[in-house]
Amino acid sequence: AWSLTPLSLPPSRPPGAPQPVPAPVRPAAAPAFRRPPAHPSGERPPAIPAAHLPTHVAVIMDGNGRWAQQRGLPRHEGHRAGARAVREVVHGALEMGLRHLTLYTFSTENWSRDREEVDAILGLLRDEVADNHFRDLDVHMRWHGRAGRLPTDLADLLQLRERTTRGRTGLTLTMCIDYGGRDEITRTAAALARRARAGQLDPDRITDEDFARHLPHPDMPDVDLLWRTGNEQRTSNFLPWHSAYAELHFTPGLWPDTDRRDLWQAVTAYTGRQRRLGAESPNPLPL
Ligand code: IPE
Ligand code: IPE
Ligand code: MG
Repeated sequence: AWSLTPLSLPPSRPPGAPQPVPAPVRPAAAPAFRRPPAHPSGERPPAIPAAHLPTHVAVIMDGNGRWAQQRGLPRHEGHRAGARAVREVVHGALEMGLRHLTLYTFSTENWSRDREEVDAILGLLRDEVADNHFRDLDVHMRWHGRAGRLPTDLADLLQLRERTTRGRTGLTLTMCIDYGGRDEITRTAAALARRARAGQLDPDRITDEDFARHLPHPDMPDVDLLWRTGNEQRTSNFLPWHSAYAELHFTPGLWPDTDRRDLWQAVTAYTGRQRRLGAESPNPLPL
């Protein structure tokens, strides 16, 4: 690089000559983000006022293996097609103005799959994160899950993306990788126990709020809408704390066949729900 970069020295100043006045430092301009590419059909998101959008949508992206099986392909081809659907749905979330989208990408239980499939999933993930598809979109990327078991290069890449997109305020995209709800709760309980042992917390007075403050991502809002594709009606150890009052939405399609219009449909269905949160009267979301 040195040999390609000519080194230019400033001309020498005669003694006594006035100090050059440094050019004023201008604040860095705010980065200009690209708009997400439109859906090929030209369809636009439904016009839902921001106040009626769910703040946090979490997705269990299920059905990659069956999608491949139906086509006589190896399972990893299903995961590859699933990665395309992720990009598509992120574009749809941005178009719609969602604030938080959390994707169940690899669970603590998924380690029990064949070594070959696990390697294929982690390899694909590494490629996706390295390709940095959301580099010039207003997306803050985060990783939620156990540290220490993922390949170091993948963990480093995830942390790099998190650091370099930290200032972005559009969509917070959290990828749950080596994530398990019970693991999250157990680690939180351990953090509380440490505080109690240190005399900083009275075990008899621990509140919901104390617990929430000790979660690995204390700033993650409650899930408003939990959507699972792939025709299964279970939550498979996904965000049990945050989803305590989530509206559930199960769809039959397989994840690789999913596009942003399915997200828009899920959100539209959510706007028709009556959330009571334990109260006697519904809290309708008038449109
Ligand atoms: C979801 O698809 C992706 C991961 C769990 C990594 P699956 O691989 O579970 O697909 P099915 O459920 O076997 O079809
Ligand atoms: C949940 O799907 C995990 C992810 C989508 C990453 P699984 O396919 O692993 O869940 P089960 O085994 O059907 O409950
Ligand atoms: Mg599955």
